[in-house]
Amino acid sequence: MQVAVYPGSFDPCTNGHLDIITRASHMFEKVVVAVLINEKKHPVFTLEERVEMLKIATKHIENVEVVSFSGLLADFMRKNGYSVIVKGLRAVSDFEYEFQMALTNSALYDKIETVFIPSSAEFMFLSSSIVKEVAKYNGDLDALVPEELVAGIKRRFGY
Ligand code: COA
Repeated sequence: MQVAVYPGSFDPCTNGHLDIITRASHMFEKVVVAVLINEKKHPVFTLEERVEMLKIATKHIENVEVVSFSGLLADFMRKNGYSVIVKGLRAVSDFEYEFQMALTNSALYDKIETVFIPSSAEFMFLSSSIVKEVAKYNGDLDALVPEELVAGIKRRFGY
């Protein structure tokens, strides 16, 4: 079965992530959304909350599974026999870091291939940090995150 792994912090999941997951689900037989730890970041939502939010946001897509893993992405891939990583590219500025990650992951496990999917134009500006910034000031999240997640995110920021 052709499986793609879509890794990220998803703190929280945004409409931009959902765009990539949806499009990947049309290209691959199964998409495994893997919530991983980015050591450089201090998440607002726990790993369990992020997994739960992704499950809610993707419940209408049959061939999507959501999991979490606390080690290296390359080890997760090897352990599960996966070889394809999907990443979204929003702008040229994403490319340098993503290229470095793709090369690192394939140096760690040579069966890995990274496939880049360009972000849809409407989500190019979006990131999890933008969502948290807007939520902090009780701004409108409707265009930024799946509607089922709006109330929970607002609650976390005290609204
Ligand atoms: N739409 C909207 N936002 C998007 C997006 C899209 N299509 N694609 C990426 N983003 C956002 C993310 O939300 C994130 O926003 P933030 O910086 O505000 O949190 C930002 O763009 C960067 O995304 P990404 O590059 O995917 O980083 P990440 O932190 O979400 O995920 C991991 C990085 C977790 C996949 C990576 O650190 C990892 O693999 N960790 C495990 C350890 C490991 O193997 N490290 C690599 C080898 S050293």
